[in-house]
Amino acid sequence: MCGIVGYIGHREAYPIILQGLQRLEYRGYDSAGIALYDGDHLKVCKTKGKVEDLKNRLESEISTKGTIGIGHTRWATHGVPNDINSHPHISNSGNLVIIHNGIIENYDPLRQELINRGYSFQSDTDTEVLVNLIEDVKSKENVKLGKAVQIALNQTIGAYAIAVFDKTKPNEIVVARLGSPLAIGVGDDEFFIASDATPFIEYTNNAIYLEDGEMAVVRNHKELEIRKIKDDSLVDPYIQELQLNLEQIEKGGYDHFMIKEIYEQPDAITDTFRGRMKTKEGIIRMAGIDDNIDKFLNARRIVVVACGTSWHAGLVAEYIFEEFARIPVEVEYASEFRYRNPVIYEDDVVIAISQSGETADTMAAIKLAKEKGAFVFGVCNVVGSSISRETHAGAYTHAGPEIGVASTKAFTTQITILTLIALKLAKLKGKLSLTEFRTYLQELESIPAKVAEALKSNEQAIRVAAQYKDVANALYLGRGYNFPVALEGALKLKEISYIHAEGYPAAEMKHGPIALIDEEMPVVVIATRQGHYEKVVSNIEEIKARSGKIIGIVSKGDTEVKKLADHVIEIPETLEPFTPLLTTIPLQLLSYHIAVMLGKNVDQPRNLAKSVTVE
Ligand code: M6R
Repeated sequence: MCGIVGYIGHREAYPIILQGLQRLEYRGYDSAGIALYDGDHLKVCKTKGKVEDLKNRLESEISTKGTIGIGHTRWATHGVPNDINSHPHISNSGNLVIIHNGIIENYDPLRQELINRGYSFQSDTDTEVLVNLIEDVKSKENVKLGKAVQIALNQTIGAYAIAVFDKTKPNEIVVARLGSPLAIGVGDDEFFIASDATPFIEYTNNAIYLEDGEMAVVRNHKELEIRKIKDDSLVDPYIQELQLNLEQIEKGGYDHFMIKEIYEQPDAITDTFRGRMKTKEGIIRMAGIDDNIDKFLNARRIVVVACGTSWHAGLVAEYIFEEFARIPVEVEYASEFRYRNPVIYEDDVVIAISQSGETADTMAAIKLAKEKGAFVFGVCNVVGSSISRETHAGAYTHAGPEIGVASTKAFTTQITILTLIALKLAKLKGKLSLTEFRTYLQELESIPAKVAEALKSNEQAIRVAAQYKDVANALYLGRGYNFPVALEGALKLKEISYIHAEGYPAAEMKHGPIALIDEEMPVVVIATRQGHYEKVVSNIEEIKARSGKIIGIVSKGDTEVKKLADHVIEIPETLEPFTPLLTTIPLQLLSYHIAVMLGKNVDQPRNLAKSVTVE
């Protein structure tokens, strides 16, 4: 995920773009850059680091004059975050300059073709390939910039929101979108371009949101033309009146980063799949696995090391790996593993899971596992993070920046990627037929839409939250794949509302925790139809018999739990191994609303930090 901003009009572009980048920094903050045209020269300044670093550097290095410009804040996908890989990127002639949010999946063959035609590249990015492809088309076909962009984009596979201009014709900016958002602010004789409307809200509240597959040319401060990229047909611009105010916008219109991130999960999971899952062909492609496939296929065991929510994702993975790939799995707290001289074999594969890629205990566990000769694979969200560099190979979750301290989309995307790995290994080991494999992939593909449906339980979560916000304790129960979700649900409640909560395997309740149950105790029970349903229903009966309050997370259309529970929250049906991706959604919503009702600092809970870089 990256943030893009552009301006063409009668004002100085620099302050508008800089402020826009600050507002979009939630979308990525590993590097930033700006390109301005001052009437004579194209000036580009870019740097690794935050927008603040860019500001300091830019104001001392270049003049900030100019009424046309573009800017970018980056969440690295192709190429590590450094000055060279930062956007904007310039074409070989030095005339075209581009910013891009997305991934051009076929950039490698395109790059090769351009190299054969004499082009050279400075960065590792797909974006530099795109700007040179546009340049190549423009000169080969002798067409205007808009047409060249259109022809070039029709040769690409992937996702993009782009803005590009030509310094030899600095009266227009060409923008396009497919899979990444792009809004055009329509002012008086001026246009604003951005990933969302926040960068231009104080200048205009008229905005056009480009649809997927559309491009636009904004010209001469007044002209605007929208076309379909595929067939060149003209589109009537639909100008919306924005209902935003300045206070809301820093979180993209949400009250907190946490709720924004909860709602981002359908897209985040889709981004985790992107370019990896080919359902029709029955293929899962992941370079980090493909390049080391023998290590995985010959693994004696998989040992997961992680902390907190990432550890919970590892527990879900234990069920999934053992079920599908039939490889024994152990899941270790990294903080315990690192200090207990664990038995590690050279043919073990250690999987380190970490959203931030910076967690000190996980880092130390990786180093120990490497010393003991194991192959270490990282599952991280933050591109270029320490853990992603320290591991032998890995896979990014591509969830986009997670700013709220309570992990939400990191959890579901970690489970997603670990599921892809388990399914891939299962197929290669002959544990799943091609038909079974395809069935699982098809169902996985439907998960983002089902997560979106599960998010509709928000209103119910608010009602339940209002009733239980003042409790002192809560229990979370689940079985099988949903036992780790019970742990995660309890962690979410604890860390942001400061209510004591415990997660248990449902059947363990009668070995101790049942003593806690009385009419004051809410018990959140995950009781989907697919997983040990009758057993869980019996556990619910046991709680009911002791006057506990039941909040059931059930499959759509459930009738049995409904008869027993005080409240039920429905989620869509899916195959049992994928239920954690859905059952976790109402639990996230429930803890969020309880914390908000209690007036807690949801995004920055006390005593916590997003990256735990100390022991
Ligand atoms: O960045 P990591 O995934 O390595 O972080 C691990 C834990 O610190 C993290 O998951 C923590 O438990 C979250 N705040 C939970 O919401």
